[in-house]
Amino acid sequence: MRFDIISVLPGLLESPFAHSILQRAQKKGISEIVVHNLRDYAAGKQKSVDDYPYGGGSGMVMTIPPFAACIEKLKSEREYDDIIFMSPDGETLNQKIANQLSIKKNIIILCGHYKGIDQRIRDIYVTREVSIGDYVLSGGELPAAVLVDAVVRLIPGVLSDETSALSDSFQNDLLDAPVYTRPADWNGHKVPDILLSGNTPEIEKWRFEQAIERTKVRRPDLLE
Ligand code: ADE
Repeated sequence: MRFDIISVLPGLLESPFAHSILQRAQKKGISEIVVHNLRDYAAGKQKSVDDYPYGGGSGMVMTIPPFAACIEKLKSEREYDDIIFMSPDGETLNQKIANQLSIKKNIIILCGHYKGIDQRIRDIYVTREVSIGDYVLSGGELPAAVLVDAVVRLIPGVLSDETSALSDSFQNDLLDAPVYTRPADWNGHKVPDILLSGNTPEIEKWRFEQAIERTKVRRPDLLE
């Protein structure tokens, strides 16, 4: 799966994909993440990517031409399943959306800044708008990294133990059961006996009950 991320601050996206699972997925050739500097597609000496808003008001608006030039170049090279704009106005990211995206082949992600991007970019090119929550960040780069992480770990072959993505919190609309490791007794704080019993069916039953209980208490909305 290939992600092309268009950003005015590509440096912000250098590190998130260079570690751990996301790095491994790229090394294995399962995912490819390419970051494009929007300014490379801006005309003129200033390489300007924004302008004053029509109708007045505070803040600058990102202009159409650099985005259009970058998107058109990418579209001439391959077909894209989706062009996603990261925006607090979008549908809120959840595990279902991550699952939907994980079976796509090529995706472009647009990162906005300042007051926003010219509405016509959204009208003409964007097929999906995604928010990572009801709060406003300075730009779409961190949200883009969150989206890519949530999606890439679901692609088969990325996690060494495939079942571990399937048993993630939310994958079955339940939060995860608590987990423990050694020591079995830390200053009197003991691991539940059942986990030391070796009785796999009983352990699975306990985990399921714990997941239900935790979901009931913390996220009852998931059970509705
Ligand atoms: N850009 C700024 N805030 C955002 C958010 N909450 N989600 C997605 N993109 C954003």
